[in-house]
Amino acid sequence: MERYFFRCCRFAAGRWGHGSADGLADSDGIAQYLRSLLAVPSRSMAIFPIRIYPDPVLRSEVEKIDVFDEDLRRLADDLFETMYDAPGVGLAAPQIGIAKRLFVADIGEGPFVMVNPEIVETSGEWTFEEGCLSVPDRFWEISRPSFARATGFDLDGNAIEYSGDELMGRVLQHEIDHLSGGLVIERLSKAERKQAIAELREAVADDRLGRP
Ligand code: NI
Repeated sequence: MERYFFRCCRFAAGRWGHGSADGLADSDGIAQYLRSLLAVPSRSMAIFPIRIYPDPVLRSEVEKIDVFDEDLRRLADDLFETMYDAPGVGLAAPQIGIAKRLFVADIGEGPFVMVNPEIVETSGEWTFEEGCLSVPDRFWEISRPSFARATGFDLDGNAIEYSGDELMGRVLQHEIDHLSGGLVIERLSKAERKQAIAELREAVADDRLGRP
């Protein structure tokens, strides 16, 4: 997969030292591992269509999660399956149409889930090519804090925290933005944003009309 190719969080291919082919070869193994950890025997994981800009669910208010049950585990399973299939390094619940405060990610160091995450600390600055599975095939050089620390809960409701520099810091910030209706295009300059929105509208119109 392209954990090294941040699509939704998506970064440029090859920058992270692992070829995407290796990653793709890995993803079956990872999916199997996840099944062993998380799956419900009576139900296999499902790949959901990823919601694309300007789908309003990407802008909607998300619900804080207060029930840590089997349904939440299934939602996390589905997010992982959809993320690895894309492939991407992170995926937030609104991106599969579920307005809940949850994301999954794997930057190549193993899968992790954060429920009700919040960024509690950032520092430094890092410019990097960033894209999003919900704004497909577009990448921009975006500056954000390099380091981020986020607190939240695991699927059992235990308090957890993740932090890191560069790619980890970027994924935490990008995914948590999705949980407050944020999209990567808001991180662009006014001129870049205007151009990006015009291009995206055109792409959506072409898609509707079946133009190549
Ligand atoms: Ni994204």
